[in-house]
Amino acid sequence: MPDWKIEKAPAIHAEMTVPGDKSISHRAIMFAALANGRAEITGFLPGEDCLSTMKAFQQLGIPIERTDETTVIIEGKRGHFTAPSGDIDCGNSGTTMRLMCGILAAQPFRSRLTGDASLSKRPMKRIIDPLTQMGAKITAEGEKGSAPLVIEGGPLKGIEYTSPVASAQVKSAVLLAGLFAKGTTTVTEPVLSRDHTERMLAWHLVRPRRNGLSVSVSGGQTLESRDFAVPGDISSAAFWLVAAAAHPGSHLLIKDVGLNPARTGVLAVLIRMGAHVSEIVEHSECEPSGTVEVRGTKLRATVIAGAEIPNVIDELPILAVAAALADGRTIIRDAHELRVKETDRIAAVAKNLRAFGVLVDEKEDGMEIEGGAKLRGATVESFGDHRIAMAFAILATFAEGASHIRDTACVDTSYPGFYEMLHKLAKPEPSEIPVISSLRPE
Ligand code: S3P
Repeated sequence: MPDWKIEKAPAIHAEMTVPGDKSISHRAIMFAALANGRAEITGFLPGEDCLSTMKAFQQLGIPIERTDETTVIIEGKRGHFTAPSGDIDCGNSGTTMRLMCGILAAQPFRSRLTGDASLSKRPMKRIIDPLTQMGAKITAEGEKGSAPLVIEGGPLKGIEYTSPVASAQVKSAVLLAGLFAKGTTTVTEPVLSRDHTERMLAWHLVRPRRNGLSVSVSGGQTLESRDFAVPGDISSAAFWLVAAAAHPGSHLLIKDVGLNPARTGVLAVLIRMGAHVSEIVEHSECEPSGTVEVRGTKLRATVIAGAEIPNVIDELPILAVAAALADGRTIIRDAHELRVKETDRIAAVAKNLRAFGVLVDEKEDGMEIEGGAKLRGATVESFGDHRIAMAFAILATFAEGASHIRDTACVDTSYPGFYEMLHKLAKPEPSEIPVISSLRPE
């Protein structure tokens, strides 16, 4: 369980890329496995979560070869899988477990999905309920309806499902089951969540139909195999974007990063906070991607609430860090979902901010953060949560004195190489600072 020691760091001047998008990497494997032939996925995130998805499909009889760290060749079998010989271990990954349930619910065999201690506490009723309505037989062996999950696969029927939560994982599990179901399956969500499943199904020539907050798919379709390039993860970029945005004198360019509007709320929030942020979409096939540029300044407080929350759900820990660095009181509300992520992210963020000397008022569905306090170096826990570890590593670069982040192995779930990058940016050697070009000529 390595700990990180972090010192105060200078302004960032860099041009960089970030590892592949986690949500898209999971789906790239899943859709290629469901499709009708061979496909190459490039830019794949070799993080532990996506490797759990890859291994799950290998266990289900799908030939998958990694030709290098980020390139994967998959032989799709038209939605036909073989029964796994043992449990499918989803590790820390909620996306693996929930989306796999949608696929496995329709298979003519039994499977059992397990996860680590954190995943075994996370809510699964949200996918068990709609999948059961479709005819699935899923038993939750854990307390309070959580994992391990035993799935007795069989025939499914299409349903019209109104989800009580804005969750891309729920929407995706139901749509994936819908591909195998008789008739049409429709999911309606209270607020639009990330739409990677819809976009990537369309890329594989299965066209979901959207009508406002509802999306439908017809059963019995086969996905067409197509190569796929995964863009960089805006959620991983967010750590550096905040580090640069909050540090006057910084100038950062992040290239080849995903710019799907359902994920770029973090840029909108930073702009509201006074940050100098520009984006250019350079590719718009399937998933938009391009370059983001940030110049540092003194940030100011904002309110993050309502329909914006699902768009920034994974960025709220680092946006709470931005709030601590801004002038004024930032309010985050309507973010109850944060309580059921890899850890209770409201409690974890509040506890760690206080350790650095920040005043925080914790609420059931968010928090209020008094920005601008003088930060003192602190020793804080990751709570086994990658985004908590990385968010507080960034805050530590603004604090006086050394800080320690404990139990950081979890960072490998989404951002292998994060700490090395932090070192490069914080103590740049001349040869390691690429000369940066600019989106807007000065
Ligand atoms: C994800 C959806 C979100 C997000 C998670 C990845 C996905 O979860 O927090 O990191 O890939 O669909 P919810 O669907 O639970 O909101």
